[in-house]
Amino acid sequence: MEEAKGIDVTSVGHALMDLRFIVDHFANPDEEADILSQSTGPGGSAINVALNVKKLGGNSAIIAKVGLDTFGRSIVDDLMRTKVDISGLKVCFGESGFSIVTIDRRGNISLYGYKGCAENLMPNEISEDIISRSKYIHIASLRPDTSIRAAILAKEYNSFVSWDPGRRLSLKGLNSLKGLIKLVDIVLLNQHECKNLTGIDDPAKCSMTIRGVGPDIVVVKMGPRGLYSNSDEFEGYMPTFRVKEVKDSTGSGDAFASAFLLSLSRGEKMKFALQYAQAVAALKVTRLGANAIPTNEEVMSFLEENKLEENKKEHGIKD
Ligand SMILES: Nc1ncnc2c1ncn2[C@@H]1O[C@H](COP(=O)(O)OP(=O)(O)OP(=O)(O)O)[C@@H](O)[C@H]1O
Ligand SMILES: [Mg+2]
Repeated sequence: MEEAKGIDVTSVGHALMDLRFIVDHFANPDEEADILSQSTGPGGSAINVALNVKKLGGNSAIIAKVGLDTFGRSIVDDLMRTKVDISGLKVCFGESGFSIVTIDRRGNISLYGYKGCAENLMPNEISEDIISRSKYIHIASLRPDTSIRAAILAKEYNSFVSWDPGRRLSLKGLNSLKGLIKLVDIVLLNQHECKNLTGIDDPAKCSMTIRGVGPDIVVVKMGPRGLYSNSDEFEGYMPTFRVKEVKDSTGSGDAFASAFLLSLSRGEKMKFALQYAQAVAALKVTRLGANAIPTNEEVMSFLEENKLEENKKEHGIKD
């Protein structure tokens, strides 16, 4: 008999440092603009998902690569403090990747990315031990060869594979990514990425085209408009929760993925897992920081207070 798996979600992808600045306005060339507030901390999809799952009360591990520098040390410190399993984390003799995120008063985001060591995670560096102990593997925005290796191992150990292509990878199109997508159980992507992959705008048709390659579940995220879910268990639009103030929407996709996969690993039904994930993501956008998410208790009371049904009526959406 198969041994029970102790890790709920393992994230595979980029571990970066996020340098975030709220600015008065974006500076033009030869201009200086004021920084109103700042926060610096670990980011990148793999980091966000690993930290978020832990914060929501699950067990997580990370497979990623950092540099042997100050950013790398700080990333490792944070992961250890949060008790993420880092035995699959690799270190390279180069610079850690980082992102410079500037957010203006209206919430517009301007982003500069330096991938450094993060993108050098090689297929033979995927920890078989970690994969064998994980219920769900979430692969985000990672080079296809390494992603395929992680997915193949996951299939060998009967772990579910979730994949978020991110903007850059989605531009490669469905055909060139078929080798990876056919190994994936769950695809989480936004509407632009769905269109980039398939050339189809309509979330229902777009997600169906992706399902045609193999995945059982495709969720098309649509920011404040919620999502479209395409799966045998639940198919249709689901609105999200209204929030009073949008402070920082970066990491909302990762917050969604963390909560959705953790919820499924807890044996929840698809519809609840989607609502739970939208609650976590909605609360995330009200906070500054890529992995600034609520605890499980906060999410549960938020869900109690905000009955989705009311929101649905307002948007004229039927079950
Ligand atoms: N302004 C918002 N208000 C409420 N919920 C939001 C808002 N923005 C995002 N969300 C929630 O977060 C989920 C994921 O966000 P989004 O659709 O922007 O994904 P994404 O584009 O992958 O995000 P990211 O920019 O992090 O990659 C949405 O499905 C929604 O539930
Ligand atoms: Mg995204």
